[in-house]
Amino acid sequence: MNIIELKKINKFFGTKGNCVHVLKDVDLTIEKGDFVAIIGQSGSGKSTMMNIIGCLDVPTSGSYKIGGVEVGKMSKDQLADLRCKKFGFIFQRYNLLSSLKATENAALPAIYLGLNTVTRTKRAVELLKKLNLGEKLGNKPNELSGGQQQRVSIARALMNGGEIILADEPTGALDSKSGEMVMEIIKNLHQQGHTIILVTHDSKIAAQASRIIEIKDGEIVSDVRKANEFYEPQDQLEDVKRSRWDTLKYRFMESLNMSVHAIISNKMRSLLTMLGIIIGIASVVSVVALGNASQAKIMEQINSMGTNTIDIMPGTGFGDMRSGRVKTLKVSDSNYLAKQSFIDNSTPKVSDSGTLVYQNYSLTAQLSGVGAEFFEVKGRKIAQGRVFTQDEVNSMASVVVIDDNTKNEMFEDNPNPLGEIIIFNKKPLKIIGVTEKNSNPGPDSESMNIWTPYTTAMYKINGTSDINSITVKISDKVNSQVAEESIEHILTALHGKKDFFMINSDSIKQTVESATNTMKLLIASIAVISLIVGGIGVMNIMLVSVTERTKEIGIRMAIGAKQADILQQFLIEAVLICLVGGFMGVSLSLLIGFGFNTFSQDFGMIFSTASIVLALACSTAIGVIFGYMPAKNASNLNPIDALASE
Ligand SMILES: Nc1ncnc2c1ncn2[C@@H]1O[C@H](COP(=O)(O)OP(=O)(O)O)[C@@H](O)[C@H]1O
Ligand SMILES: [Mg+2]
Repeated sequence: MNIIELKKINKFFGTKGNCVHVLKDVDLTIEKGDFVAIIGQSGSGKSTMMNIIGCLDVPTSGSYKIGGVEVGKMSKDQLADLRCKKFGFIFQRYNLLSSLKATENAALPAIYLGLNTVTRTKRAVELLKKLNLGEKLGNKPNELSGGQQQRVSIARALMNGGEIILADEPTGALDSKSGEMVMEIIKNLHQQGHTIILVTHDSKIAAQASRIIEIKDGEIVSDVRKANEFYEPQDQLEDVKRSRWDTLKYRFMESLNMSVHAIISNKMRSLLTMLGIIIGIASVVSVVALGNASQAKIMEQINSMGTNTIDIMPGTGFGDMRSGRVKTLKVSDSNYLAKQSFIDNSTPKVSDSGTLVYQNYSLTAQLSGVGAEFFEVKGRKIAQGRVFTQDEVNSMASVVVIDDNTKNEMFEDNPNPLGEIIIFNKKPLKIIGVTEKNSNPGPDSESMNIWTPYTTAMYKINGTSDINSITVKISDKVNSQVAEESIEHILTALHGKKDFFMINSDSIKQTVESATNTMKLLIASIAVISLIVGGIGVMNIMLVSVTERTKEIGIRMAIGAKQADILQQFLIEAVLICLVGGFMGVSLSLLIGFGFNTFSQDFGMIFSTASIVLALACSTAIGVIFGYMPAKNASNLNPIDALASE
């Protein structure tokens, strides 16, 4: 039965102008179980023919059938499958993977067949023992002699069954003793039923085969059969049922293994490549955390201005120089607003500064005349005593609430100043309450502040009915924007013109929020640029890695790796570099945050899980995006070109 049929095979190398015709109309059939030697001078086309037979290379024209099936019509993956299941290659230069031990090298083809680790290691060990390598199972190629390496490569060729053994000058690099040993093994394999195709330029070696084919300048010049020895195959690799899932899993594990190995064996290079990703990820995460922190801080301060409050002031805006002197707001405005359904309450505010006297102390203080609800609206908490009541407001009671600063200045030795009388601008006031320390930095935090009912401030202290501002608390159910517009309408109607302006804590909040978000976006996009630069670094190193390992890619393809296996291996390597970089970046950022938070008391970086997850997802994506091109290049390599590289 013919297992191999070549008809009118031609092979040209090079392009039009510089073209060599290496194989010229070669017709050849080889029977199952035969032992064929192909002999010829160097450069006669033996290896080229062998590579075509082994599906490593494709003929320029002609038909090639294996077991009656035309090979020319097969896809790259089908060819890889053929190489994996039918052929066993023995190369002149062994072509072992230098990073793998003898057993791992021998077991390699079974990964692409989908055998599990235990089964394939067991089989590899058996094969190596049969080849007298029982002592060298754990040795790497550079710890083995040439003859031993060639025996490992024979074990590898037999791993998946090796129905057809292709040996291209298997003894070419060996001393005569090792050469003889290898030839003994090959003859043995023939007797075990393997079909052997051996290429050599040495007639003594060729003489050991059953059939000798001589090739000269790409043409078969003689074909002599010496013996008719065909044997039944013995080493039938039992066809274990392997699920698709298992096959994918073992291939993936192998890719992962190789990627980790590649990264570890180039530690410094991998680390430097990761650096770009580390810096990029660390800056994105830190910037977002800082942004969150400052936003939270500002929000806290805005919230302390009071929730749902609107301050109404005279003048056209903060920049209005006259606003201190403009006295357009009246108590009646406040009362009118208080009657509106969307307003919970409204307090006029009168401000004055003057001299505060207690016994022999005297200092300058800010007096605010406010309504009873002021403290609740502004969120100022009382530490001692109470705030004044509506009755006290109505009756212009001479009562005062002082702040923590004033208490500390004036009542150093008296922890309980309640009930004491202080004099402000010559008017006596009785202390009924002390506020808590104002924790927010701002204009109020250092000065001495005291509060009386606005009626008291207006009529008893100032002697006028002028007010400085109105603070309204709008009802929770109402949109603050709408409330602001309504107030503007009402007051404009009352005054006949718009001679006031409003500060709405809600709209300040929104403005700050959108401003910090814009800031975050801006800085984050700068960080993203650094990530892209990092990604380009990864792509660069992956291209180098592919170039360095072209030979390895060729070997893997020769023993059955599909394009997807190669693509996967390099893609995983790129993703791993980026992901590890991402993890290191996040850790660095957390470390920065930890340092920052220990040294700054009132301002802490806030890390959100979302930003960390996003950063890691981002680094994975960078690995995929920037690793794809180099990985695709690797998987698109021609097996024979890759094998030929050094
Ligand atoms: N990839 C290639 N590109 C161009 N020429 C090639 C290539 N491979 C082989 N050749 C040429 O084809 C001829 C046959 O090569 P080869 O089959 O390796 O010879 P052999 O194995 O018999 O020594 C040689 O002249 C060689 O220079
Ligand atoms: Mg050759």
